Amino acid sequence: MSKNLINRRWVLADYPEAMPDETHFQFEASVPLPVLEEDQILVQAHFLSVDPYMRGRISPEAGYTAGVKPGGLLPAGGVGEVIESRSNLFDEGEFVESMNFGWQEYSVLSAGSTQKVDPALAPIQSSLSYLGMPGMTAYFGLFDVGAAKPGETVLISAASGAVGQVAGQLAKAHGCRAVAVASNEAKLDWCREIGYDIGINYRETEDLPKMINDCCPNGVDVYFDNTAGPIHDAVMQNLNLNARVAVCGVVSLADKIGKPDIGQRYLRQILVNRARIQGFLVFDFAERYDEARDYISGFVRDGTFKFKEDISDGIESMAKSFIDLLHSENFGKKLIKI
Ligand SMILES: NC(=O)c1ccc[n+]([C@@H]2O[C@H](COP(=O)([O-])OP(=O)(O)OC[C@H]3O[C@@H](n4cnc5c(N)ncnc54)[C@H](OP(=O)(O)O)[C@@H]3O)[C@@H](O)[C@H]2O)c1
Repeated sequence: MSKNLINRRWVLADYPEAMPDETHFQFEASVPLPVLEEDQILVQAHFLSVDPYMRGRISPEAGYTAGVKPGGLLPAGGVGEVIESRSNLFDEGEFVESMNFGWQEYSVLSAGSTQKVDPALAPIQSSLSYLGMPGMTAYFGLFDVGAAKPGETVLISAASGAVGQVAGQLAKAHGCRAVAVASNEAKLDWCREIGYDIGINYRETEDLPKMINDCCPNGVDVYFDNTAGPIHDAVMQNLNLNARVAVCGVVSLADKIGKPDIGQRYLRQILVNRARIQGFLVFDFAERYDEARDYISGFVRDGTFKFKEDISDGIESMAKSFIDLLHSENFGKKLIKI
């Protein structure tokens, strides 16, 4: 056992058929750590990331990567400190970030899939948010998939979340009109504070297509779709000529993984507007992460960038935090401080 430490972690108890609840997760309070092999490091997590993609991983359905089987460790990105190293790439005391931490306090990571984090450059947890996966997603979704141009109207769902906050600020800085969609007024106030031109509360709006039409009189040029579901259906009725729909996430389908997504169809609007719908995974752009990180770092340095985190304490809070995220109860990037 490495350093005589005892690990605490969460495993999948059972596949949820609809929305996950706490019965689908099992806490293990005393798990021995393995002895490190060559090229491995032992890392103590400081922050773990809570992300919507975890819902797809706890399903028997095939996804873009292998899922977790009942009894298996739940996946999470994280950032933490190296406390033991059998790699000549990492020294004890250094901070590292990886997608492979898992829902646990200590992780044995392979040196090859782990990146160093310099705590002098930015708070370490930014490697899980605006300088990490959500920030990269916002950048490539907006500029590559959405191909946003100055003067265009960009509508973003889950606008106050980890990806949405970055996408909205990048859209504004690029000279676009940015329209936020979120579930409550506090989130929309935050969206306005970080620069969104206007906000739509999708839960309080009786006629969402009309509200989008009122807020986007020239139509939507880029729809940064973080949610799918009824918001998607409403935006499709408001596309501008040559609109681009960047399908980033389907969090509103969390209770329907593996089941048909039966919504309304708007193929005529796509045809008439010569619109393009494209799904994307941020990992497809991995070779260009430095470009995105430099771009976002520029905003951080000039002091114009704002970012809200929503931090819960302790590994025990992981399951509830994930379930809350799927019910819109996070406000900002959801992180667990270990
Ligand atoms: N393609 C990729 O490579 C990639 C990478 C990262 C993330 N993503 C996707 O991007 C989306 C945002 O991720 P994030 O990390 O930034 O999460 P987030 O926005 O910080 O948190 C999830 C948000 O989703 C919204 N939501 C939950 N249930 C909803 C529902 N039924 N209808 C509408 N909105 C709902 C909630 O915002 P409201 O309060 O506004 O409802 C909630 O706060 C997710 O779909 C995620 O899977 C994709």
